[in-house]
Amino acid sequence: MLAAEPHQVITAKTLKELAQCIKIRIIVFTHEQQFPIEAELDEHVKDTLNANAAHFLLQSTPSLMPIGTIRACKFTSTQITENGLHSTKTYYKLTRFAILKEFRGKHLGEALVHRLHEWVLEDAAKDRLQTLDGTSATVTIIAHSQIYATGFYAR
Ligand SMILES: CC(C)(COP(=O)(O)OP(=O)(O)OC[C@H]1O[C@@H](n2cnc3c(N)ncnc32)[C@H](O)[C@@H]1OP(=O)(O)O)[C@@H](O)C(=O)NCCC(=O)NCCS
Repeated sequence: MLAAEPHQVITAKTLKELAQCIKIRIIVFTHEQQFPIEAELDEHVKDTLNANAAHFLLQSTPSLMPIGTIRACKFTSTQITENGLHSTKTYYKLTRFAILKEFRGKHLGEALVHRLHEWVLEDAAKDRLQTLDGTSATVTIIAHSQIYATGFYAR
């Protein structure tokens, strides 16, 4: 369903945009949900070190007020198969999904997840995650969310 609230989702590229994502995470996870600030700070350090993380910022339009965020982290793991061949798997983890309280329940969460899915597909295509016969390979997206939010991701 399309969100009725005017909005746009951008990929956070500048420090200012990244800071706006982090501010929303602190409002939601630290202040509202009472998770320790250390948990959030650890995540900031990981973000700084992880060049493979993409951050998305949801903005109300036309004001461009930041109202939500989500992060995709990309991982690759290489395993040696029984035949001694290398098999590389790429997967994406969906994390730090948050929308300011007053903007929830308006299908803006769906808009963020939709943009993240588009980005994953674009990124996977760039990495030539295509099978040789041209059919697309499976892309794995993992959501280790707080348990009560799993219903949301299942949609
Ligand atoms: C999770 C969150 C981002 C969802 O944002 P939202 O804008 O309210 O979600 P939407 O309006 O797009 O919801 C789309 C659908 O998912 C459902 N849904 C939303 N949040 C849900 C949740 N926590 N659990 C189960 N279903 C959920 C909605 O009911 C809606 O269903 P409907 O189409 O039948 O009405 C928001 O509730 C939030 O910020 N929560 C606090 C932070 C959090 O818990 N984040 C997730 C863990 S990382």
